[in-house]
Amino acid sequence: MPVLALESSCDETACALVENNLVLSELVRSQADLHRKYGGVVPEIASRAHLEAVDLITGAVLEKAGKTLADVSGIAVTLGPGLLGALLVAVSFAKGLSMATGLPLTGVNHVKAHALAPFLKTPDPDPEARARDSGRGEPKFPLAALVASGGHTSLFLMEDFLTFKTLGRTLDDAAGEAFDKSAKLMGFGYPGGKVVEDLARGGDPNAYKITRPMLREGLDFSFSGLKTRVMTLYREHDMESGPSDSREIRDLAASFQAAAAEVMVTKLLSAAKSTGAKGAVLAGGVAANGELRRMAREALEPQGIPLFVPKPSWCADNAAMIGFLGSLQLEKGQNLLGRDSEPKTRWNAEDLP
Ligand code: KG4
Ligand code: ZN
Repeated sequence: MPVLALESSCDETACALVENNLVLSELVRSQADLHRKYGGVVPEIASRAHLEAVDLITGAVLEKAGKTLADVSGIAVTLGPGLLGALLVAVSFAKGLSMATGLPLTGVNHVKAHALAPFLKTPDPDPEARARDSGRGEPKFPLAALVASGGHTSLFLMEDFLTFKTLGRTLDDAAGEAFDKSAKLMGFGYPGGKVVEDLARGGDPNAYKITRPMLREGLDFSFSGLKTRVMTLYREHDMESGPSDSREIRDLAASFQAAAAEVMVTKLLSAAKSTGAKGAVLAGGVAANGELRRMAREALEPQGIPLFVPKPSWCADNAAMIGFLGSLQLEKGQNLLGRDSEPKTRWNAEDLP
């Protein structure tokens, strides 16, 4: 029987109905349009928008699958990490559903769930998913996993789908934050990752010299210097006075993207090699970046390390990944939540639920 999953940790309200890793029905309502003019996520606005959406999309997800709560075996909800007021919305809603129905409720770590997204399936996989997955087969553990999103950038060793060891993490900005801040410095709105990728497509990645921060220094990351370098180059070359898609801006976007991607790919490869991992995972919002995916594949697969990457919509925040990890936790009776369970704004992925 399927599990109903809910996610509201940041600026997407999402619900999914999953049977293990099989996604029967899902919806994601993005709030990006509400936050764009503020240049980032405004917590108050996020909570309010989650409140308006959570019951509607839950009803719609069940209806789309032709199911009711009577057909569900359990509920999974993102317990953290994330914004407190945002997390509270889905957690409170899920607790209410659980109390009303008697269904067991498990609390899921959002960052851990991102790393499971490459293994989600739809009942009828599209040709793109078939092509992406062909030849890679089922994952063999342990896996080295990089989760790079707007709020987190961490490298893990996944001993299985439930057991994570942290190998490295960012010491300052998250990778997605570096894309967002660089886009903002170049005059673009939030979120900036996709904008930078689109601009970079027409640019020269070698046009500007950008040092790769901490490239050969262990498995931690530092991304805050990248945006400072972007700001300096933008000002030095007086890009503000030109059009927003000038050759210089395209070159700057491409040079920044190449630097950020090279650091992530080098560290993921080095994590996989140093741990003897049998495969690698690239996940989180930033993993939607086509150039990063291409570079990672090119670096890892010739070395015999299969790379597992979600389809772009499962790189971004979604509830399907919460449902898959939640199903595994429910099977083991892990992290069952009660009336008094509280969201966790900070939560290490390696801490068992
Ligand atoms: O995983 P996610 O949807 O939310 C968090 O958990 O943070 O990640 C959002 C982040 C944003 O910083 C966004 O700019 C970045 O992922 N992102 C990208 C791309 N698409 C989204 N970064 C680089 N290239 C992209 N195509
Ligand atoms: Zn996320």
